[in-house]
Amino acid sequence: MAKMWRGIIEQYRDYLPVTSATPVVSLCEGNTPLVPARQLSAELGPQYEVFLKYEGLNPTGSFKDRGMTMAVSKAVEDGATAIMCASTGNTSASAAAYAASAGLECIVIIPQGNIALGKMAQALMHGAKVFAVDGNFDDALRIVREITNNYPITLVNSVNPFRLDGQKSGAYEICDALGDAPDFHFIPVGNAGNITAYWRGYVEYHKHGKAARRPRMMGFQAAGAAPIVRKQVVPKPETIATAIRIGNPASWKFAEDARDDSNGMIDMVTDAEIIEAYQFLARREGVFCEPASAASVAGLIKLMKSGFFKHEAPAPGSKVRIVCVLTGHGLKDPDNAIKHSAEVISVPASADAVLEHVALARR
Ligand code: F0G
Repeated sequence: MAKMWRGIIEQYRDYLPVTSATPVVSLCEGNTPLVPARQLSAELGPQYEVFLKYEGLNPTGSFKDRGMTMAVSKAVEDGATAIMCASTGNTSASAAAYAASAGLECIVIIPQGNIALGKMAQALMHGAKVFAVDGNFDDALRIVREITNNYPITLVNSVNPFRLDGQKSGAYEICDALGDAPDFHFIPVGNAGNITAYWRGYVEYHKHGKAARRPRMMGFQAAGAAPIVRKQVVPKPETIATAIRIGNPASWKFAEDARDDSNGMIDMVTDAEIIEAYQFLARREGVFCEPASAASVAGLIKLMKSGFFKHEAPAPGSKVRIVCVLTGHGLKDPDNAIKHSAEVISVPASADAVLEHVALARR
């Protein structure tokens, strides 16, 4: 039997609203690894296992591809010729790539000055028409809603239900890989589509008997952009994690439902905690994600430090399993990576000059 991975629609067709008539637009997204986080697991202790769902390994470097394959396939099925989105960067990169593959026009609106360089490069390189507005993501989404309400162009933000359908596949993959749902699912929260989608995915898989249990959903917002935690719209959201710099999430209510139905939590982490987790992941686990993605692990570290897990001992003979979703690749944001790393050491072109800076005993 051929074993080629053909993307999340072919893999999970039975769980998705597609028919044999749906023209599948796929870049073979999904099937991302669940990387064991050795250091985090060791710090928690022998009764705990932490895994990183490394979504940065999707075709455009973020989880958005899972939803975009669905949204664009359904748009093509519908006869659309153009798609549009507001974005903090990753949605626009993904929309631009899938539009290119499908031969659709793509228009994106981004907040001026607040998107990571790699994401901008992707949207432009894939041929999208990119508009930067003097405002934030929430302003951009308002504009996109207004235009798509009045003109024949398909909105592909996560308010498009097909986006969330596709993103549920992340939960299916985690259950398939572990043989069950984890105990805890840590995830960054911005526009709140992904936490909604993961929860729906876990609930459905459980209903179909593919998982024996459902995880507690642990969402984390950036402290400067934490409307759900603060229970009010944040008019001027600010955080170094530009991907989740959102003050009025579209799926706000659904995220609260996911939290409440799963006995989970939505909390916040500071930029300093986000950067600490970002560096820890890169330097200690060997996994490079973008700052917003590190919010999930920053949340885990925050709870570890507070003693939260002391009350979460596993059943005898088993372990507490924790999955943290790393939503986007570190290469998306080279500026932050360089800013938060050691400097390059310039030296003359000789071995001695290099050796002056490294402590090595001669062989
Ligand atoms: N992590 C990354 C890397 C993201 O790009 C986003 C959202 C999130 C987390 C949060 O996911 O919005 O479903 O709660 N990025 C959107 C964008 C807003 O435009 O690319 P969410």
